[in-house]
Amino acid sequence: MEINTKRALITGITGQDGSFLAEFLLDKGYKVHGIVRRASTFNTDRLDDIYADPHESGANLLLHYGDSTDGSSLRRILERVQPDEIYNLAAQSHVRVSFDQPEYTADVVATGTLRLLEAVRDHVTNTKREVRLYQAGSSEMFGAAPAPQNENTPFYPRSPYAVSKVAGHWYAVNYRESYGLFICNGILFNHESHRRGETFVTRKITRALGRIKLGLQEKLYLGNLDSRRDWGYAGDYVEAMWLMLQQRTPEDFVIATGESHSVEEFLNLSAEFLDMDWRKVVELDPRYLRPTEVDHLLGDGTKALTKLGWRPKVTFQNLVRLMVDHDLELARQEQTLTRAGHHFKPRGVSHG
Ligand code: NAP
Ligand code: GDD
Repeated sequence: MEINTKRALITGITGQDGSFLAEFLLDKGYKVHGIVRRASTFNTDRLDDIYADPHESGANLLLHYGDSTDGSSLRRILERVQPDEIYNLAAQSHVRVSFDQPEYTADVVATGTLRLLEAVRDHVTNTKREVRLYQAGSSEMFGAAPAPQNENTPFYPRSPYAVSKVAGHWYAVNYRESYGLFICNGILFNHESHRRGETFVTRKITRALGRIKLGLQEKLYLGNLDSRRDWGYAGDYVEAMWLMLQQRTPEDFVIATGESHSVEEFLNLSAEFLDMDWRKVVELDPRYLRPTEVDHLLGDGTKALTKLGWRPKVTFQNLVRLMVDHDLELARQEQTLTRAGHHFKPRGVSHG
């Protein structure tokens, strides 16, 4: 671990990216603070490996209750933490769900970003400290714009989620230009891992095929198999977030692999690793179709390579492999518990 005196604050620390970023920054010697929203069950599973009881001295990961819909909590946390770097990752991040909950999605993703920017603006004015902020933008903002997409491609959002991310992006640009704040927009293409939420298509596939392979589930219901995504590995992408904030001047960057695959290709490869024929177990369920789809996302990451020296390390093949292996192991554990008499109830409503 490197020696460092910097403090980072991460919104959305309990999510996939938040957990990878927290690990990455702890390794660099940062003191990491995260904002956790209150839930009736524990939502910190992804942090279990790095979380230490704050009563013990030397804990470098500290969690605070707060919510992107609650500006006063954000302001209080800023005052308490006095961060050098802020990573705004909090979001209702599921595109399909954003059609069901458009107002809430806008409140968290668009207005939540604005609340944080306002809090940072006042904090910087009052304290004269330099605070750097990373805003989690998304390739979804490109939506229907033809591939490949780069920093100069005009946005054409196709969902309430994407519209909200576009608003967050332009709020961030405006605060950078109006108040001279150090803010970078990362425009990240899809990135996955064994910690990906189970209602996103990649994890839904690897989780279900693992269970079907071991006889724990019969069918996998999916929507559109034709859309194409530029899928990378989340562990690689959090480094790019950090690199953006280490530059001399704040700029926006596309982060992508430069390679796209269809959902069907992801299915094919996952099934091939498991020696299965997915056509026998996959069925179409229209509930997983979106009113407007994004057909093809393919990023051109030339600027990130040139200016940040960033390139992805994990290939598509290796990404699928690591997710399949992880989820087969999870299914094995479930099988062992089932055989020992443990009863797993079916999951609740799934919008994934
Ligand atoms: P994720 O796994 O869905 O995590 C989202 C995080 O936001 C979770 O910690 C969640 O808390 C938190 N959150 C949700 N609503 C909140 C609220 N009202 N107040 C405070 N926190 C809230 O998403 P991810 O994949 O890590 O993505 C991180 C960020 O990058 C998101 O902004 C996402 O939109 C964006 N992004 C992701 C990708 C991708 O491919 N993964 C690509 C481009 C952009 P809970 O754990 O309690 O739900
Ligand atoms: N979730 C899901 N579930 N998607 C399905 C399914 C299904 O059963 N069947 C087909 N798909 C298709 C979707 O229609 C979409 O075209 C593609 O699989 C990928 O869907 P998701 O994995 O849900 O991801 P996304 O591309 O919509 O959004 C993710 O990436 C964005 C970056 O481009 C999320 O992580 C967003 O938060 C992120 O901004």
